[in-house]
Amino acid sequence: MAEDLLKRHSAIQGLTEAAADILIRSQATLALTGAGISVESGIPDFRSAGGLWSRYDPAEYATIDAFRANPEKVWQMLMEMDAIVGQAKPNQAHLALGELEAMRLLDCVITQNIDNLHQAGGSKNVIEYHGNSSTLSCLWCGKTYKAEEKRGETPPRCTCRNILKPDVVFFGEAIPEKAMRRSFDLASSAQALLIIGTSAVVSPVNTIPSIAKRNGAKIIEVNKERTHLTDTLTDIFLQGNAGEIMPRIVAAAKKKKEGVTSS
Ligand code: APR
Repeated sequence: MAEDLLKRHSAIQGLTEAAADILIRSQATLALTGAGISVESGIPDFRSAGGLWSRYDPAEYATIDAFRANPEKVWQMLMEMDAIVGQAKPNQAHLALGELEAMRLLDCVITQNIDNLHQAGGSKNVIEYHGNSSTLSCLWCGKTYKAEEKRGETPPRCTCRNILKPDVVFFGEAIPEKAMRRSFDLASSAQALLIIGTSAVVSPVNTIPSIAKRNGAKIIEVNKERTHLTDTLTDIFLQGNAGEIMPRIVAAAKKKKEGVTSS
């Protein structure tokens, strides 16, 4: 038993060192994150067992048509998410990405998440591919509000009395043009791509790994379980909780960077 544990530990250590080597050598590094990176902050992901879509059918709660047809119903789910996101703090994985950026080993985080935890975790260069829940808009008159202006209103209403929609991308809505263009540009010139906590099943964001791979990027995947990327595009797969794995990659990269600068 102890021998197996030792073997597993040294295998992960070897993969962690290899991932750190890629980050040290890369001149253009991107991270692509999904809901899994925020699970250790208490925010459920979507497709794991017990995830949000096991309790709310996305066809009834997460499409723009569902919102237009029955905004009060969609706000039942949004209020539950809002309460959880409102108390969530960045975890060790968010902080690790903030540190990599500060060490100039990470240029940008492209996130599918709307929880603002990357910014709270120190990342300055963040592309929010699916928008952000901190502002609300009126689909009828176009007026926008800060979410905290409407805190406690269930559902929040515009002065024109219509129900407001959070500025997150619902299924059936377009991805913010700037976010899409910047992400594809960065993916096309990336030398390393960290993919953390995403099942990579939603498009068009899930084309980013193949764009990066096609342009020669090394792919490091951190996930609790294997995904369809693991055996196709991924070069280094680190299985486990992002909150445990990411700080180890940063520690290994720091050691290598100090080694390089001091030699
Ligand atoms: N550490 C690492 N990975 C984790 C952790 C963790 N602690 N917890 C869960 N995961 C992994 C899961 O194994 C899964 O592969 O994170 C992934 C989460 O996948 P999804 O729930 O599908 O979330 P995501 O990929 O972000 O979904 C993309 O779908 O519904 C839409 O708009 C929504 O942005 C979301 C998009």
